[in-house]
Amino acid sequence: MSLDTRAVDARIADLASFDGRTVRLQGWVYNLRSKGRLQFLLLRDGSGIAQCVVVRGQVSDECFQEVKGLTQESSCQVTGIAKRDDRAPGGAELTVESVQVVQVAEPYPIGKKEHGPGFLMDHRHLWLRSKRQAALMRLRHEVIRAFRGYLDGQGFYCVDSPMFTPNACEGTSTLFELDYFDTKAYLSQSGQLYAEASAMALGKVYCFGPTFRAEKSKTRRHLTEFWMLEPEIVYAGLPEVCQLAEGMLRYTLRQVLQNRKQDLLDLDRDPAVLEAWDREFPSITYHQAADLLLQWKAEGKLDSQFERGDDLGAPDETALGEHFGAPVMITHWPAEVKAFYMKRDPENEDLVLGVDIIAPGAGEIVGGSVREDDLDLLQARIQAHDLPEEAFRWYLDLRRFGSVPHGGFGIGLERTIGWIAGVEHVRECIPFPRTMTRLQP
Ligand code: 4AD
Ligand code: MG
Repeated sequence: MSLDTRAVDARIADLASFDGRTVRLQGWVYNLRSKGRLQFLLLRDGSGIAQCVVVRGQVSDECFQEVKGLTQESSCQVTGIAKRDDRAPGGAELTVESVQVVQVAEPYPIGKKEHGPGFLMDHRHLWLRSKRQAALMRLRHEVIRAFRGYLDGQGFYCVDSPMFTPNACEGTSTLFELDYFDTKAYLSQSGQLYAEASAMALGKVYCFGPTFRAEKSKTRRHLTEFWMLEPEIVYAGLPEVCQLAEGMLRYTLRQVLQNRKQDLLDLDRDPAVLEAWDREFPSITYHQAADLLLQWKAEGKLDSQFERGDDLGAPDETALGEHFGAPVMITHWPAEVKAFYMKRDPENEDLVLGVDIIAPGAGEIVGGSVREDDLDLLQARIQAHDLPEEAFRWYLDLRRFGSVPHGGFGIGLERTIGWIAGVEHVRECIPFPRTMTRLQP
């Protein structure tokens, strides 16, 4: 393939800034329409989609015919003059001078007609190219960058936790077990316990990576492999943990608004919705939430099995999210429904100093707490939860050598993206989802 030396390579996202210049775009055919002596080639390159206008007489006849034969997803390099145009999607279009076809694609399985989610998920490796899915992946990139950017800006260190673990963090019922040479290991449910050790070494840390739960639930909010970012801070109590989570989420909303507006529009998400969430998050206790839920149940407004003392179910989270119309913090949970490591509320031994953030439409996106920092109490909890003490010996050391009040939270990446984008199902928020019923592609 010869290089057109006059043209500079441009990405579609930046096309408007090349106004009047000759540029080359490298991508794939998203769509092609003909109208008399004009052909409108929609080209995508991963950064966006641009309209490239091919005019008979302004390109060679050979080129005009070649473009005519292009099928959806054919790869080509298009050279032409960039033209700023506020009405064009992406703010610019290209007046084509020449086209170099790289490959003419076979008939593409994903077309304009409606496909079911099963078909699309089976073709996930191709579905990722569609406008909406690509927008979600760019949004995912932005959310990760914002999470990390916020923490990095506050002096946190990223210290990652292992994926192979000898013990459970979030209860034994959702562990993926595997043979690890001549012993048993599990895939990590959460990096938290290791993040606590790292925090004692470095003060303010986070870990970020894939997390695994053998969730036997086929809901729109559950993946068996999801990504979680877990900050952990020392000399901190519940207010500090809550402030950190709120600060990080609001910063993320602002970064998305600033950098990914076009993607929000491609997802039919009104940016004003995000703007409205960037204010102080309401905060209620578990018992206040229970009061609301029981009242709605009594009034026949909520169809739920919820009783006081229960964990929240999906309908309960949905109702609370709708009621507040904003992310809401729920604190002071019954110890019964929470993990072994959560510190008891000194004012009420039945409660733990935990916080969940429920986001409208997405349910629980954050789960966090203050950690039990007393050696004897923690040891008792490990026993009460029937966890193997041997596997937690190292963790108990953290309470032997300079134990301090500390806490943190885990934020689920895919649920956060689903919330921001207004996407119903978390499977669209990860490139290659893994669920109870999906291991392919
Ligand atoms: O509430 P969880 O289970 O909390 C923990 O794992 C703590 N150890 C975190 C910590 O304090 N460091 O999970 C945290 C978040 C949830 O709020 C949710 O966003 C996400 O992880 N999550 C899931 N996302 C998708 N699919 C699943 N099966 C998920 N389970 C949890
Ligand atoms: Mg939770």
